[in-house]
Amino acid sequence: LADDAELGGRIRRAKEQLGEDLVVLGHFYQRDEVVEHADFVGDSFQLANAALSREDAKYIVFCGVHFMAETADILSRDDQAVVLPNLAAGCSMADMADSSSVEECWEQLMELYADEDDDGRAAVVPVTYMNSSAALKGFVGRNGGIVCTSSNAATVLEWAFERGRRVLFFPDQHLGRNTAKAMGVPLEAMPMWNPRAALGGNDEQTLRDARVILWHGFCSVHKRFTVEQIEGARAQFPEVQVIVHPECPMPVVDAADAAGSTDFIRKAVAAATEPSVFAIGTEVNMVNRLADEYPQHTIFCLDPVVCPCSTMYRIHPGYLAWVLEELVAGRVVNRITVDEGTTAHAKVALQRMLDAKP
Ligand code: 13P
Ligand code: SF4
Repeated sequence: LADDAELGGRIRRAKEQLGEDLVVLGHFYQRDEVVEHADFVGDSFQLANAALSREDAKYIVFCGVHFMAETADILSRDDQAVVLPNLAAGCSMADMADSSSVEECWEQLMELYADEDDDGRAAVVPVTYMNSSAALKGFVGRNGGIVCTSSNAATVLEWAFERGRRVLFFPDQHLGRNTAKAMGVPLEAMPMWNPRAALGGNDEQTLRDARVILWHGFCSVHKRFTVEQIEGARAQFPEVQVIVHPECPMPVVDAADAAGSTDFIRKAVAAATEPSVFAIGTEVNMVNRLADEYPQHTIFCLDPVVCPCSTMYRIHPGYLAWVLEELVAGRVVNRITVDEGTTAHAKVALQRMLDAKP
């Protein structure tokens, strides 16, 4: 097996040979041995913009998970090839909302709300988290909806509330609940939709009174964070600042000092001028990198049992070296392509997000 130094050398050589034809994008959760080769490192919103910004590149190699590569393909030109170094790098949360279950939910809601008076707004506006399949982004685009990321969820929900009496939010129940709660939506107006039960397991009146209908998805990494861990951190370091990702359950977000996207977390740490203590509730690769970058601070992951995102971790430098060397040889492997029809609708939903002003 090649070691990291040898793989690093192969990646650098291949990048040099590909020159301006190539851009490598890396999500904050990628391991260090991959991040060091990325031309852009960012959260999922920043990487969507980065994919748009390199119009000259023939190849976009996406070191992240499948839905991010699909998004890059939707936003890029047809003749740009998006490559995911390991096709097994998916997202378990994105997989929790399959398009047939969402379409079935949509039909039931449309039927239920069909008798409501027309007040010029839609009965429901669908909002999908970036962490979802291209098919769902297409569904949202076809039905007057919009995409959000964890860095713009409140802006996007405002956009949706202006246009609809309710929002159907998928796949992440926690991001939906945490964001809507911070905007003043009461918890009783946020029923959850269970696709295995009629009307998602709700009675008609609950769905009529709803402001946000939450899909039942969650992130298996972020659901590991607990209020007990926060209490433990505060007991050990009374001055600690606890910052968590909004994919964490609501009690954890409520107990933290702040919640925000991966980029928000990075900026909060970067802004500290005095040596400080930060307990972070997000993926451990990113937390460890922050700890290395800012040795003047004490920075640790809230979960003492290390919690990497196992699918992000599937982008091993060996796969990156392989796809780049194949490109040098003129072969595009592991290309991610979204069909034309889906792309057209998904682009509308993504463009609404990019245009939504904070
Ligand atoms: P960001 O949108 O903050 O990059 O997060 C993406 C993600 O998958 C978090 O689990
Ligand atoms: Fe998906 Fe969670 Fe991994 Fe993010 S951390 S990519 S939501 S499984």
